[in-house]
Amino acid sequence: MDLLVRPRRLRGGEVLRKMVRETRMDPSALIYPLFFMDGENRAEEIPSLPGQYRYTVDRAAQAMDTVAAAGVQSVLLFGIPAEKDARGSQAYAADGVVQRALRKLKAEFPEIYCITDVCLCEYTSHGHCGMLRGREVDNDQTLELLADTALSHVQAGADMVAPSDMMDGRIRAIRERLDGSGFFTVPIMSYAVKYASAFYGPFREAAGSAPAFGDRKSYQMDYHNRREGIKEALLDVDEGADILMVKPAMSYLDMVREVKDATNLPLASYSVSGEYAMVKASAGNGWIDEERIVCEMAASAFRAGTDLYISYYARELAKFMQEGRIG
Ligand code: PBG
Repeated sequence: MDLLVRPRRLRGGEVLRKMVRETRMDPSALIYPLFFMDGENRAEEIPSLPGQYRYTVDRAAQAMDTVAAAGVQSVLLFGIPAEKDARGSQAYAADGVVQRALRKLKAEFPEIYCITDVCLCEYTSHGHCGMLRGREVDNDQTLELLADTALSHVQAGADMVAPSDMMDGRIRAIRERLDGSGFFTVPIMSYAVKYASAFYGPFREAAGSAPAFGDRKSYQMDYHNRREGIKEALLDVDEGADILMVKPAMSYLDMVREVKDATNLPLASYSVSGEYAMVKASAGNGWIDEERIVCEMAASAFRAGTDLYISYYARELAKFMQEGRIG
């Protein structure tokens, strides 16, 4: 055969394949989501997320030991309060569950970088991500509460805040509030391109945050839209975001690439609860090879352009990376 170009030449062995590999990954790019709940001395496995737990703050060491042992350096914290109300007041209470968790983590695990999810949905009695006016989520009043929440997290020791509510103008509101209190150096990771997605189902069970009526489509994005995602990303750049996020990851890798090309901020993607639950369920049935699927999902996010990868599999992925089984 008269073939000058033979792509297979570069696939001839493991050493060569790794030499020419285009996507290289490192555990420093991984972020592990972690749930803290009010109460004492409890760690509950989340039924829809086997292997993931809700911890009370006094059990923080149990959670963090596995993170540190795996070589994961950053966590994304979520809170599940005992009391919810219409204004989500536990979200910005100085002794709220996330604020207490932060103080403990920063004292006992100072080497772990703590990012906090900033949203009201886990804290509101109605389960929406903001204040209600009638049955509508009131954007501008919510901004105040989000800024209060972000500030209270930073005052409790958060290294970075990550607003996930999808209100208009929240990056600016949070940036101004943090700067006004002297926290100029604390970065904001914006859940900038966040779609209204069925992939969040298991998380809402974990956090008890499903909306009591309606859905989140008046603030989270319509998944048919691509250009709107770029608009959201560019807006958050203008408002002072330091890192952008696309969420979910797996079905939205086109958006990872779009946002990567349209901006010059570091980019995160969030492999959400539904992605994890689907893999766990089919692996549990013996239908797929869990490790290979998880590695392929992560590599495809990095190939699409993600710089940071938020995953319930972060601990396993860090191990796979260190052992050279991926990346
Ligand atoms: C809070 C928030 C959600 C997730 C992250 N932050 C739920 C939602 O928007 O309904 C989802 C995470 C996951 O599914 O793993 N707004």
